[in-house]
Amino acid sequence: MAESTSFEPKIVAFTCNWCSYAGADLAGTSRVQYAPNMRIIRVMCSGRVEPTFILEALQNGADGVCVLGCHFGDCHYISGNYEAARRMELLKKLFKDIGMDDRRIMIERVSASEGDRFGSVVNAFTEQIRELGPLPEDYQESLSLMRGALEGERLRIVLGSTKRAFEEGEIEEERYNTTMHDIALEEIERVKMMKALTENGPQTVPEWAEYVGVPKMRIWRHVLALTQKNVIEVVGEKEHYMQYQRRGV
Ligand code: FES
Repeated sequence: MAESTSFEPKIVAFTCNWCSYAGADLAGTSRVQYAPNMRIIRVMCSGRVEPTFILEALQNGADGVCVLGCHFGDCHYISGNYEAARRMELLKKLFKDIGMDDRRIMIERVSASEGDRFGSVVNAFTEQIRELGPLPEDYQESLSLMRGALEGERLRIVLGSTKRAFEEGEIEEERYNTTMHDIALEEIERVKMMKALTENGPQTVPEWAEYVGVPKMRIWRHVLALTQKNVIEVVGEKEHYMQYQRRGV
């Protein structure tokens, strides 16, 4: 939704040391005009930017976050910018799944000699965020759910092992992306299930299904996995369904 023209978006730009940070530098020395409220964070490679860094920036006041790295084929760590592109694709899918506007995050490539391009890329992004308006307050809960899922042990382990399998050619790119997306969605649902326990006490499968907003069959699968991992346990019965709580509570 468009806001008043006085709105000056707060933008965080993660820039890789070798290309886009130098591009930003060149933009500065060439007096290319770009958004005054932009905070540039230098990282060694765009592949170093974890999805959680982007979420944290949005949780801490940014209205939009972009990641700027080397052009494909120019990454100093060979495949960091491909990894960054895959992570951004995953994050954008999750934004859509959870009802957030994925235009608030962006990845682009800018070389050290492209000061003008740096200016035009960040100005176009800033304009887009200006049109979207300030980050809605109700995004905070979704950001925290996503962060909980992405910081969880399961996703980190799977991300690490399938990344290796992908790099060694054991898994195709499309399958890798779909697998990551499915696991991330499952993790978001599990974070929501845990939140329901904190807010409402012991839960039955139908109660969880209603809280999380997914079919009961999907919750049953989570219950099975969480029980096997000793995360939850049966603590009672309600309306012919077992009630679960965090183990040891
Ligand atoms: Fe620039 Fe990897 S070093 S994206």
